[in-house]
Amino acid sequence: MIPNSIIEDIRYRCDIEDVISSYVSLKRAGSNVKGLCPFHSEKTPSFVVYKDTQSFYCFGCGAGGDVISFIMRQENLDYVSAVEFLAKRAGIALPEFDSHTGYNDGPGRARILQMNVEAAKYFRSMLFDENTGAPARQYLKGKRALESSVVKHFGLGYAPLGWNNLRDHLRSLGFTYDEMVAANLCSKGEKSCYDFFRGRVMFPIIDVSGNIVAFGGRVLDDSKPKYLNSAETAAFRKNKNLFALNFARNSSEDTMIICEGYMDVIALHAAGFTNAVATLGTAITSEHARIIKRYVSKAVLAYDGDEAGRKAADRAIRLLGEAGVDSRILVMRDAKDPDEFIKKFGREAFRKLIDESRSRFDYIIETVLKKYNLENADDKIKAAGELCAEIASVYSKVERDIYIQKTATALAIDPKSVKHDVDRLIGRNASYEKKRQTEELIRVTSGISDRVNPDYAKSPKAGRLEEEILGILMLHPEYVSIKIDDGVLCEDDFFTGLGRRLFAFIKAKMELDGFSIGMLSEEFSNDEVSRAVSMQTARRDLSNDTDAYKTYSLSLRNETSKKSDMSLEDVILKKRQTK
Ligand code: GTP
Ligand code: MN
Repeated sequence: MIPNSIIEDIRYRCDIEDVISSYVSLKRAGSNVKGLCPFHSEKTPSFVVYKDTQSFYCFGCGAGGDVISFIMRQENLDYVSAVEFLAKRAGIALPEFDSHTGYNDGPGRARILQMNVEAAKYFRSMLFDENTGAPARQYLKGKRALESSVVKHFGLGYAPLGWNNLRDHLRSLGFTYDEMVAANLCSKGEKSCYDFFRGRVMFPIIDVSGNIVAFGGRVLDDSKPKYLNSAETAAFRKNKNLFALNFARNSSEDTMIICEGYMDVIALHAAGFTNAVATLGTAITSEHARIIKRYVSKAVLAYDGDEAGRKAADRAIRLLGEAGVDSRILVMRDAKDPDEFIKKFGREAFRKLIDESRSRFDYIIETVLKKYNLENADDKIKAAGELCAEIASVYSKVERDIYIQKTATALAIDPKSVKHDVDRLIGRNASYEKKRQTEELIRVTSGISDRVNPDYAKSPKAGRLEEEILGILMLHPEYVSIKIDDGVLCEDDFFTGLGRRLFAFIKAKMELDGFSIGMLSEEFSNDEVSRAVSMQTARRDLSNDTDAYKTYSLSLRNETSKKSDMSLEDVILKKRQTK
């Protein structure tokens, strides 16, 4: 949890109108300002910035929030990174915090980041030190063929041989042994500690806000382990970071190239493919996939051609697909990874591989064919069944026809039979889909379709009351302690899940050091924050008196208790029936 004082400081010094006007051209409209919404395309402005509440709301698409959620959306950052981004802009030094564990006793995030900067500087100076760095420079230039401009661009360095080099350097800068161990730059020894990275080329791992969060280190020869990567620290989560995302996020391409190794990424960037990233010595996770989706909708998987690489690609396709990223597989011949390929055949040849990269379906055909023995009739039927199911899930008819043809050829069966089976499957899917659509239509036409707060539909009356109450509370959070009849409102008075969570959040913040809209992004999704702001916006021009709050609260309490009574009756009724 980031302390309220810091959030307030940031919001105070980053005036929402100033910040937004560096992205959107704003024109005065009454006491507010208006512009074209950056989050959906429109010709007439419906994006309003409210100076008094320091919030924005788009009446066109419903996006809303404060300066922090604006930056989250606009710059594609998570909450902590957006706070850091604004803090940097305003020249505010952030205290030590960690998005997962909050304040901890060891050195916090800020201290570790500071140590990492010093370590990176040290590694770099060692790499360029005439004597010490010679073997590493030779390795990078000779064996890896890296220009010194590339080495500098990625901030590469060298951790010299020996046990105490970095340790003594950091000690002289005032860091303690405990801190070095907590940052994973040193390992704990009997009395003190010793350098974790020794005799390795160092790759700093930089997050999207420009912080050095961790390091990877490679040996110069064939010794093992080939790579060492920082373990997780208060400043580093493997699943939240991708190597070179700090560069790749600025690429104008709607595709990211995802590879396995640091050196692959570096070789690709050096060859002009600045949209390449790699996971950090782990397989891709669904969290990685969601991060990638923030920036692009397509990916090319440039994994090693071996069995492990294929397995990894399989997993990546699935996870990326679930996150909404469409991926293609790049197949390399006569080279084990992109680094080697580019060295051997050059950038144009790699560009060609990207263009030739195969769709998910081609890849699936290949996997299915490998899995089954087509000489065996049963196996062949199973293979055909799997492929037909795959094809049936494809939306485009043209695409389907191509796949049907491919399947028929691959399995040596009549395309008409394949088509017949696919159509039958589609028919079945379609009747499900039709049923689902009808249900959806009923929800929409009754005005209660609701993705962000699905419970709303169960009781639109309670839902509406909640929105009024929460809207008032977000303008006047101090009302939370107003007595309604015999007691203040509590979580159980709320009916919908989102309502409960919002109320609990506001209440908890008021019991600590106060609530402001900006804090919502800590715990709520962008869509939920937008919804909350829309509740506030709907209330802002209405009267501020406490009467409305009391009346709505009383009705909500009635409504909710009626609901629970009814369900109690249901229970009793059921019991009687079963007796
Ligand atoms: P180079 O030999 O430098 O070209 O390595 P590579 O990039 O081709 O590496 P490889 O395909 O062997 O491994 C891909 C990635 O897996 C590396 O970038 C590391 O992040 C990770 N990795 C490889 N070897 C090790 C290891 O021994 N230990 C750990 N922890 N990670 C490794
Ligand atoms: Mn390699």
